[in-house]
Amino acid sequence: MYGVPNAPTAPGQPPRRRLLRFVLAAVLSVALVQYLRFYVHLSHEYDGGAKVPLRAQEYLDKCHLLTVKPGPPPDFHTRTHSDRFVPGTPPTLITNATIWTGRGNGLEVVHGDILLHGGIIRRVGHLQRSMLDEFGDLARIDAQGRWISPGIVDLHSHIGVGSSPELDGADDSNSFKAPVQPWLRALDALNTHDDSYATSIAGGTSLVLPGSADAIGGQGIVIKLRRPTDRSPTGMLLENPYETNRTVYDPAVSFRYRQMKHACGENPDGIYGFTRMDTAWAFREAYEKARKIKQTQDEYCAKAVRGEWAGLGEFPEDLQWEALVDVLRGRVKVQNHCYETIDLDDMVRLTNEFKFSIAAFHHAHETYLVPDTLKKAYGHPPAIALFATNARYKRESYRGSEFAPKILADNGLQVVMKSDHSVLNSRFLLYEAQQAYYYGLPHNLALAAVTSTPARIMGQDHRIGYVSEGYDADIVLWDSHPLALGATPQQVWIDGIPQIEMPYTSTKPQSFQKLPRTPNFDKEATETLKYDGLPPLEPKRVTSDTVVFLNVSAVYLREEQSIRPAFFSDTANPLSAGVVVVRAGKVECMGSAITSACASIIEDGRVDAQVINLEGGAIAPGLVSVGSSLGLEEITSEKTTIDGYVLDPLSKDVPVIVGGTGMVIRAADGLRFGTRDALYAYRYGVTTGVVAPQGSGFLSGLNTAFSTAASHKLEDGALLQEVGGLHVSIHPKGKPSVSTQIAALRHILLGETTGELKHWVSKIKEQGEAPLVIAVESADIIASLISLKAEVEHRLHRTIQMTLIGATEAHLLAKELGQANIGVVVSPTRPFPEEWEKRRIMPGPPLSETNAIAILQAHNVTVGVGVVEPWMARNTRLDIAWAALESNGQIEKADALALASVNVEKLLGIKTDSLQGDMVATLGGDLLDFGSKVVGVISPRRGLVDIF
Ligand SMILES: *[C@@H]1O[C@H](CO)[C@@H](O)[C@H](O)[C@H]1NC(C)=O
Ligand SMILES: *[C@@H]1O[C@H](CO)[C@@H](O)[C@H](O)[C@H]1NC(C)=O
Ligand SMILES: *[C@@H]1O[C@H](CO)[C@@H](O)[C@H](O)[C@H]1NC(C)=O
Ligand SMILES: *[C@@H]1O[C@H](CO)[C@@H](O)[C@H](O)[C@H]1NC(C)=O
Repeated sequence: MYGVPNAPTAPGQPPRRRLLRFVLAAVLSVALVQYLRFYVHLSHEYDGGAKVPLRAQEYLDKCHLLTVKPGPPPDFHTRTHSDRFVPGTPPTLITNATIWTGRGNGLEVVHGDILLHGGIIRRVGHLQRSMLDEFGDLARIDAQGRWISPGIVDLHSHIGVGSSPELDGADDSNSFKAPVQPWLRALDALNTHDDSYATSIAGGTSLVLPGSADAIGGQGIVIKLRRPTDRSPTGMLLENPYETNRTVYDPAVSFRYRQMKHACGENPDGIYGFTRMDTAWAFREAYEKARKIKQTQDEYCAKAVRGEWAGLGEFPEDLQWEALVDVLRGRVKVQNHCYETIDLDDMVRLTNEFKFSIAAFHHAHETYLVPDTLKKAYGHPPAIALFATNARYKRESYRGSEFAPKILADNGLQVVMKSDHSVLNSRFLLYEAQQAYYYGLPHNLALAAVTSTPARIMGQDHRIGYVSEGYDADIVLWDSHPLALGATPQQVWIDGIPQIEMPYTSTKPQSFQKLPRTPNFDKEATETLKYDGLPPLEPKRVTSDTVVFLNVSAVYLREEQSIRPAFFSDTANPLSAGVVVVRAGKVECMGSAITSACASIIEDGRVDAQVINLEGGAIAPGLVSVGSSLGLEEITSEKTTIDGYVLDPLSKDVPVIVGGTGMVIRAADGLRFGTRDALYAYRYGVTTGVVAPQGSGFLSGLNTAFSTAASHKLEDGALLQEVGGLHVSIHPKGKPSVSTQIAALRHILLGETTGELKHWVSKIKEQGEAPLVIAVESADIIASLISLKAEVEHRLHRTIQMTLIGATEAHLLAKELGQANIGVVVSPTRPFPEEWEKRRIMPGPPLSETNAIAILQAHNVTVGVGVVEPWMARNTRLDIAWAALESNGQIEKADALALASVNVEKLLGIKTDSLQGDMVATLGGDLLDFGSKVVGVISPRRGLVDIF
């Protein structure tokens, strides 16, 4: 415990003098008390001179406390044990590691060893054997040259306060009592039974913040995710700012930073029926109150220190406002949820009016548009804490850009990537850094954005965020370069304690140990700024009839219901590089540049061709996105930009005018084309969307398949198939019961139906004509559906096609699903125990050997993959690449491509002619290579080639 061995020392004051002062003060105050008793007794009427109050010393102490600067105690760096050390933890030696230390602006890499002892990093670098003798029995780990980084640091998490699985009894992230409540503390709400602690171990030290319902929502806390020895919330704290044991923490010597949540814009506005003007006033009113208290305190203390007690009275303080007063004293890090220019500008003015600094703007989707505004903030420019590609979920995030991290860094601003767990699963926070790197943030800053930078922004860079001697940062041994897609911890040490029971070994190719290559997006980033965050995304159509792709390393083709590698170039022989000739949107020939049929075409020297060099890239089938509302909406939470929600015949009477209980809604009737999410999806290889009507009830309606590139429904090739499968969903929502929902499904399949419903149900019953697609998560419900299918098939004497979507717990019934011939669209690909019905996840490495997709496939289940929200569609190629990486070779590239193309189509009742399917051309790698870039789409059905 630091602070114990030596007497605590105020900065710049030798311990001796302090002690003397203390003794003197004590003697004086005892004398004073005696004197005062006598004096007050005698001189009731006396009205002049200095009345020294009884609690003078206490007040003077309080005055002193206000002056203590935040930061670690002066002797912090001489500690040999962390205050979080668990006695009995053996020292650990990790040898032969490639260590990204975080130092040197994230550019320092040390090849060597790490010694962990006493819960801290004792040595980094090459260790002499003689050095090790004093440490006795060492746990030894050979890193075999692999990468080590400091533990991930998440600047914005709600882990533990908005717990997983979500239960009514455990949602403590927001207080809705008032828009300004700086007195609330997240520590008071930290649930120790959040399932995601265990899964997020690699997501590292987290700043847990109250939600964003309030303008000032309360104080955050920094926790480590290891299960604490005492099992208490307090035991999770990195350093407890509320610690009252003065032996452990003496606020008269050093002051522990606190964290304060602020939120602008839509959230507080919407919840309190405010306009932006009202929220801004709520801030100003609160800060004015804090300013007055601070001023009163400062004036009081100035006099008290001079001994001018006359008329001073009690020390002025207010428990409700002390934390906000401390913001003005620079001892609280303000973490500000704030998106738009308008709100950022408001907050910057507020900081200058009341003279306090903002540590970071969070979410902050428009910050990259206004770097100069940020630089005008009081004290220093705030850091910017971002998502990589999560945007457009509300108006405030409409202009969110994947290039924001790069643009902000170019402007000298500090960039942080954060999870907002469970908005994003903090287990994969590193993925945000990988994407930021892919879109142009330099590699050193990208890794720092989830380690050193957030550690600094939360005022904890004296102990976490770096692999440095004396630090107690978590240590992560990765199975690849941390910025390579799918980087997975082999082991994580927290306080020197290994966290992963079965250390993970993967079989990734050696190339994954290197920093991945990334494409150049300078043009796109410039366009983004030029168009104020809304660059045109529409593809350009190639005008020449013939397009020749050169230097093609591979071609994958659709064949019936699978994907087949049709061509690979011999990488050793540059002359064998592939050529693909496309005419009127159709592949005319492909093969090696010198031997194939294409060779003669090229030699013909046809002039009218546009030539595209793929630089070792590939051509692969376009991907299909399903599971979200892609194609039915532009901005999720803006009702005028979405199709809306269908009526549910199970929970309310459906008007006769839409068909009453015979109603069936078609998604095709609500399609919106040219949405930004669809166009982004297209740019990243998703050429088709399949969407079902949106609803929260039992019956959704009929799905449809559409082109993500089309500008309206009547354009050629815009609508691929008007109607596919019929979608229902079965979830435990209280009422009507799950059993009622299953009874309704049984009734639909076996009982009497009317109208449209009757028509479409008869198609389901006539084998193969249309699938019944059921959104479901729980294994128990899945089991009932397997039984129901058997029951229906028995009664009908024929088989029906049933597909499950979502299906987080399906892996528990992989064998039964395989036997019942039920297909599964796993969505999302990386599961999270968000709700009770999804809590039995197959987490994937390193927490399980493989993933749900591989398990289902091993049981002959046809598997597709989906996404949950429309912005996720663009990342489909990364999802399937990741799924393949996790399978340790079981899922090959062609299989991975099938997961998000032919399999999805088959499972959802979309019948595409193999020859008509779009194909995607990628530069510098194939569609599944992290570092590749989609440069064009070959569209036989539309008879054209698009380029970006
Ligand atoms: C460190 O690991 C690398 C990669 O496995 C290996 O080539 C090298 O020989 C190892 N060095 C030592 C000193 O063990
Ligand atoms: C305060 O902390 C010290 C050091 O950990 C411990 O020995 C002592 O018992 C604690 N005091 C109380 C009152 O808990
Ligand atoms: C093909 O691409 C590779 C990889 O980018 C490159 O090294 C090579 O020079 C290219 N060859 C031609 C003929 O363009
Ligand atoms: C999956 O299908 C293959 C080929 O039909 C068969 O050999 C294998 O036994 C099946 N596996 C399971 C688990 O049913």
